[in-house]
Amino acid sequence: MQTTARTVPPIIECENLVKIYKTRETEVLALQGLELTVQQGELMAIIGNSGSGKSTFLNMIGGLDRPSAGRLFVDGKDLFKLSDRELVRYKRSTVGFVWQNNARNLLPYLTALENVQTPMLFERGGNRRQRAQELLELVGMAHRKNSRLDQLSGGEQQRIAIALALANKPKLLLADEPTGAVDAKTAAYILDVFRRLNEELGLTIVIVTHDPNLARKVNRVVAIRDGKTSAERIAKGDYAARLDEISGFAQETHDEYALLDRAGRLQIPREMLDALNLSGNRLRVEMAEGRIVLTAPEESGNESK
Ligand SMILES: Nc1ncnc2c1ncn2[C@@H]1O[C@H](COP(=O)(O)OP(=O)(O)OP(=O)(O)O)[C@@H](O)[C@H]1O
Ligand SMILES: [Mg+2]
Repeated sequence: MQTTARTVPPIIECENLVKIYKTRETEVLALQGLELTVQQGELMAIIGNSGSGKSTFLNMIGGLDRPSAGRLFVDGKDLFKLSDRELVRYKRSTVGFVWQNNARNLLPYLTALENVQTPMLFERGGNRRQRAQELLELVGMAHRKNSRLDQLSGGEQQRIAIALALANKPKLLLADEPTGAVDAKTAAYILDVFRRLNEELGLTIVIVTHDPNLARKVNRVVAIRDGKTSAERIAKGDYAARLDEISGFAQETHDEYALLDRAGRLQIPREMLDALNLSGNRLRVEMAEGRIVLTAPEESGNESK
């Protein structure tokens, strides 16, 4: 991975994010110190076991729920500081959401074209109808614009849901298992739509998925385990062959990357530190041929590097 100086700030900056769901009897720690930075224009997937906190994380970014602690900036906005009113505006203007179950945003008794126009109702000026038409073309559904939603298949409805999620021109598209309820062919088509949106419009897209075919085609995959992204495992070469291994969190060799936060702090995977056999909390840092090398200091009595 090349680390180049970027002039555009990241669209998502999440540090040590914590979410606790409190119910009368219990407290569920759904996110426990999640770290993730997403750059503008990324197309990425989040994978992880059921209950690991994927939807919780997406809901925090989407402003659907409030995080409990940590730091979360999206598009330069501090999500901890937004008032309820600002949060409503944020949801309407910054993010678009696609769910596994599209019944959540579509109205069955309206046509495809009418559905896509619903988020634009508060807008002044502009040609809503034409924009809706263009969005339907983008997802390959223009030919069914006058069909009522309940006359469309699940996969077709999902494409309408994507068009609808784009109606407010969001900067960030969030999709929670968008292909969970469709067949493989439709899933592949939906993924192509995402790729096109990403490449042609530069839209940043974060997809939560269990679908290895979907995950293999994005630019980056981040695994969440127990509400944490301990490290990123990044696609390189034929990633697909290793996806099962990664989603199973096997400890095989793979490229492992740690994220730098804005202050230049780095979190090094525990296993790597353990392998250094440190006796204290000090590490020797040196530059060697353009690499930063971390070794155990001599006084820790570690012979091997
Ligand atoms: N509203 C809620 N109230 C209480 N606990 C919740 C709530 N929503 C989620 N949780 C809990 O938080 C944890 C993370 O849930 P989350 O839905 O984020 O998991 P997930 O990774 O999306 O799982 P899946 O792959 O099954 O969709 C789980 O233990 C879940 O039971
Ligand atoms: Mg979920």
